[in-house]
Amino acid sequence: MPKKVILDVDTGIDDAVAILLAVHSPELEVLGIGTVHGNTTADVAAANTLRVLKAAGRLDIPVATGATRPLNQPLATSPLVHGEDGLGNLNLPHPQAAPSGEHAVDQIIRLAEAHPGEITLIATAPLTNLALALALEPRLSERIAEVVIMGGSAFYGGNLSAWAEANIGHDPEAAAAVFQAGWPVTMIGLDVTMQAWFTREMHAALGASPKPGAALAYEALRHYLDFYERFYGQGGCAQHDALAVAYAIDPSLVTTALLPVRIETRGEATRGMTVVDRRAFLADRAPFLFPDRNDWHTRVALAVDSERFLNLLMERLT
Ligand code: BDR
Ligand code: CA
Repeated sequence: MPKKVILDVDTGIDDAVAILLAVHSPELEVLGIGTVHGNTTADVAAANTLRVLKAAGRLDIPVATGATRPLNQPLATSPLVHGEDGLGNLNLPHPQAAPSGEHAVDQIIRLAEAHPGEITLIATAPLTNLALALALEPRLSERIAEVVIMGGSAFYGGNLSAWAEANIGHDPEAAAAVFQAGWPVTMIGLDVTMQAWFTREMHAALGASPKPGAALAYEALRHYLDFYERFYGQGGCAQHDALAVAYAIDPSLVTTALLPVRIETRGEATRGMTVVDRRAFLADRAPFLFPDRNDWHTRVALAVDSERFLNLLMERLT
C-alpha cells in the first residue's frame, strides 16, 4: 500500500523537482498539494505546481492555494534564487488548469479527517498553512501520522540569514507552532540537504531524458545551478526539497536523532533559527529525561546516504 501524502510547497525550482519525485514514486500516493508564500507568492506557486503536474501528466492531483503571507512579518520572496517567476525565469505559458478553489489549510484538515492516522504531511515551504490548520482544527495533530519538514539546521547555520534556513525564517511564528504541536516531526535540514550534491552531470542526464517532467526540471534547474555557482563557488546544487520526499519514500536514507528543537522568534540576529538542543546526553533520551517538555517530538536528520538518495532521484526523474 502506498503511503498517503499531502505536499505543502512554494514552487520553487527545487520544489518542482520534489513534486516530480513524489508523483513518479509508486511508494507514495499524493492526495493533494497545497501552496504557500515563500520562494514566490502562493498564487504563482499554485500556477507553477500546475505547470509541473501538467508536464508530469498528473493534473488529476488537486492543487489548493494557501496562505499568502507570514503570520507576523511582511511577505518576502526569493526571486534571486528561484527567478522572478519562481521557475528560473522560464516564463512558461499559463498551465491551462486551475487550483481547486479550496484553501490549502482546509484541504489539509479535510484530508486528515477523511484518512485519520494515515497521512504523511511533507512541507517543503514556510509552515504558515500547517500552523493555521493546527489553529483551526486542534485534533489535527492526532490525525496526521507524520510531518516531514524540509527546513532548519542543527549544525550547518542558515541560508536566509546567518542562522535562519529559508523555510523557517520566512515564518518563524508558524514554525514555532508546528514544532510544538506534539505530532511526530522529522526535520530534514541543511545539515543533510547540503551534503547531497546534485552535479552538472546529473543535470545533463536529466536534459537527455524523455520522461514526463524531466525537460521542465532541466530548464528550471539551469537558473538554480547558476545561482549556486555564483554564491557557493562550486558547480552543482542541493536538492533540499526532494530529500524530504525521498525520506518519506525510504527513511533509511537519513540518520536521525530525537532531539529537542525550539524556534527562535525574538533573537535580533537569530530570528528563524532552529535551536536544536545538541547536548549529547539528550539524543533519543529527552522524552525519558523530561517527560513534561513539549519540544522533543522532532527527529533531526544528522546524516544522509547521498549516493543512494541521488541514485533514487535520478532513477525516478529520468
Ligand atoms: C528551502 O528554501 C527554498 O528556497 C527551497 O525551495 C527549499 O524549500 C531551502 O532552504
Ligand atoms: Ca521549497
